[in-house]
Amino acid sequence: MKFPSEPFKIKVVEPIRRTTREERDRLLREAGYNLFQVPAESVYVDLLTDSGTSAMSDNQWAGMMLGDESYAGSRNYYHFEETVRSIFGYQHVIPTHQGRMAENLLFSTVVKPGMCVPNNIHFDTTRANVEHQGAQALDLVIKEAYDPHCEAPFKGNMDLMRLEETINRVGRAHIPLVMLTITNNSGGGQPVSMENIRRTRALVDRYGIPLFFDACRFAENCFFIKEREPGYAEKSVLEIAQELFGYGHGCTMSAKKDGLVNIGGFLSLNDDRWAQDITNMLILVEGFPTYGGLAGRDLEAMARGLREVLDEAYLSFRIGQVRYLGEMLEQAGVPILKPIGGHAVYLNAREFLPHLDRDRFPAQSLAVALYREYGIRGVEIGTVMFGKKDAATGRTIHPELELVRLAIPRRVYTNMQIAYVAESIAELYRCRDSVRGLAMTYEAPVLRHFTARFEEAQQPSLLRRAS
Ligand SMILES: Cc1ncc(COP(=O)(O)O)c(C=O)c1O
Repeated sequence: MKFPSEPFKIKVVEPIRRTTREERDRLLREAGYNLFQVPAESVYVDLLTDSGTSAMSDNQWAGMMLGDESYAGSRNYYHFEETVRSIFGYQHVIPTHQGRMAENLLFSTVVKPGMCVPNNIHFDTTRANVEHQGAQALDLVIKEAYDPHCEAPFKGNMDLMRLEETINRVGRAHIPLVMLTITNNSGGGQPVSMENIRRTRALVDRYGIPLFFDACRFAENCFFIKEREPGYAEKSVLEIAQELFGYGHGCTMSAKKDGLVNIGGFLSLNDDRWAQDITNMLILVEGFPTYGGLAGRDLEAMARGLREVLDEAYLSFRIGQVRYLGEMLEQAGVPILKPIGGHAVYLNAREFLPHLDRDRFPAQSLAVALYREYGIRGVEIGTVMFGKKDAATGRTIHPELELVRLAIPRRVYTNMQIAYVAESIAELYRCRDSVRGLAMTYEAPVLRHFTARFEEAQQPSLLRRAS
């Protein structure tokens, strides 16, 4: 296990308040056992998401002070535009306040009811935005992605046979674009190989279908290509990114991940007609095209973050810290998704809690236990997030995997805090039989995981330990 050493010093600190087990137990009841409803102040190590939770650098904060808040033509926009073009290579650069707005603008412009958008695996917001247009969001990742023990290096790859079969079945006219999510968040933060990207492009070219990237974690994906794919070890991550985006026609990006900012996103593409329609809609719902729902200072921070994220000392630490957590858990026998992903470690809840039936939401139950016992917040990626009701039978169709994602914010937690997380989970694993299941008492019609409420199926005996 290689100890990842931080390539930065800490200049500003934010105190964390420790809570007691009793307090967390009460908060859980008030929150309906939904960790999205728990106040962040009551969390010790917050691994809910790596989105918008990064620590910005002194260089980014300095850039914030150079914000040009002009309504039109802010100099920060031009810096941002030039930065995006130099990495991603697409002509049009459309800022949005975050990733899902880029998705919404793209899909509301090009997706029509009855159409289908294939992806390796859609993230929940892309899926919801596609479905909101009355279209089908189809996941066509390779089958290895669903085997939590398979150590394949690029488990985010698109299954090209199924993609071609889908195009032939649905018809080119019903597929406005194909997407690739890099890295594949919902499938364990697994990367997509350059070879698969090249072959996906060759396939969609035969049918004249554009290829777009959901590029949130592009730098992490490119780092994996450098580490794992023959022929890339000597290339810089920037060169790899430039080649990768060269195979696409555009991308959506939540800069809250690999943009190293707390808010921001964009859409970048080559098609003039699409860009014009999207820009008209942007003005209606976000703002003028040179700020797109952001302040000038946010654009500056994003431009600087997009450069910093390509620093290989940073990426080596970043991927190394996530791997460090995963390897400590593995050593303790805790079942995790393999290989360890780029931004998160995923606990395999069905193997962690084999005594819980899937209707008892094992991944949600595990996430609740982790918070109650140790003040650690992860997120369920399983039936709560992706389960669907079968219209005919009323029964739940479960997704392939029940996972708890422990997403590591960028440049935020020390290795000591990461070690605390590993030790806590190992302890919970030793007492796993005492974790009780949950029953859902409320669900919203879309994106239900944010607001769902639960009650405990049985009062947990859980671990009797000091908080
Ligand atoms: C792969 C992926 N796509 C899209 C999004 C949506 O981005 P945002 O939260 O900025 O709207 C996320 C957010 O977590 C994501 O992980």
